[in-house]
Amino acid sequence: MSARRHLTLGIETSCDETSFAVVADGRVILSNVILSQTDLHQRYGGVVPELASRRHVANAVPLLRSALAEAGVALEDVDLVAVTRGPGLVGALLVGVSLAKALAWALERPLVGVHHLAGHVYANFLVEAGQDAPAEPVWPAVALVVSGGHTDLFYLGGSGRVERLGGTRDDAAGEAYDKIARELGLGYPGGPAIDRLAERGNPAAFAFPRAMLEEDNLDFSFSGLKTAVLYELERRGLRDPDRREELAALLPDLAASFQQAVVDVLVEKTLRAARQVGARHIYLAGGVAANRQLRRQMARAAEEVGLGLSYPPPVLCTDNAAMIAAAGYAAWRNGRRDGLDLDVDPDPPLEGLL
Ligand code: KG4
Ligand code: ZN
Repeated sequence: MSARRHLTLGIETSCDETSFAVVADGRVILSNVILSQTDLHQRYGGVVPELASRRHVANAVPLLRSALAEAGVALEDVDLVAVTRGPGLVGALLVGVSLAKALAWALERPLVGVHHLAGHVYANFLVEAGQDAPAEPVWPAVALVVSGGHTDLFYLGGSGRVERLGGTRDDAAGEAYDKIARELGLGYPGGPAIDRLAERGNPAAFAFPRAMLEEDNLDFSFSGLKTAVLYELERRGLRDPDRREELAALLPDLAASFQQAVVDVLVEKTLRAARQVGARHIYLAGGVAANRQLRRQMARAAEEVGLGLSYPPPVLCTDNAAMIAAAGYAAWRNGRRDGLDLDVDPDPPLEGLL
């Protein structure tokens, strides 16, 4: 008889996805139920915090039930409750954290508050039930977390050692995708739409700036790129609603050129970081890690210098609770416990959280 599996219940409500997951032994996904609120926020071109919180409140318990049913486990079988405590929208985070505390208290199980970005990184170590386990994590490594809210480079030394090496000084990479997509009339979220359009465009059609590439640091800046794209549209008179057809014809080239400017900087700075800290492996994480050009170009660059590269499948790149369960389990194994006074934090420190 096999040993009893340890079950972590993961809860994620930091932004516009409500998600519950059951993960065995910190790595095997038994269920990962994700309800995206994209339809709700689409018409506003971005997430409306109060609407997001209210949707989380309405859907949390039904989704928790689905996650347990899909995993074939009862609530009482849960050994650990892991919940995103930040970064994120405070009202949205409060829904998940309050529910997690109520469950941990009622079930008399340990509770761990998880840093959302640690969750994104840990998506790399998950496996679907029935699949072969992925290779063990490789340390030391560099992680590039690129999402709608973040563009950060981290050093991962193993045993919970994490250090932030650099990050964006203004817009996050995903935010740049979303803002440009809105200007181009492509809806929200913009990343997947630009990714698709770019596949049939010419990345050299427009020469957009590669910000901070020459500077000797590991920081990013994407607001200048956004301005450059908008200026180009303005200069050609393409923001005029009467010239929609002309704009439509240029969309693939605009998308490909914008994306190339983003990807060039992300790849170059990630490799620079890996070189500086002597990393053996690169982990990509966050919604933008689903981007095909980023994956391709990073794979080529990593191979050239003999570095390993991993990225999660697209569904685990964007927000989900399985990644929160995985990071929560790792933190719990490292001795982390939170009390029922756990609070949300819109900008928690990452250090010591794994
Ligand atoms: O990680 P995530 O789900 O949420 C945050 O924590 O922010 O990331 C969402 C972001 C959005 O900005 C979305 O446009 C972007 O990830 N994204 C993509 C792709 N898929 C999602 N960006 C570029 N290419 C994609 N294929
Ligand atoms: Zn996220």
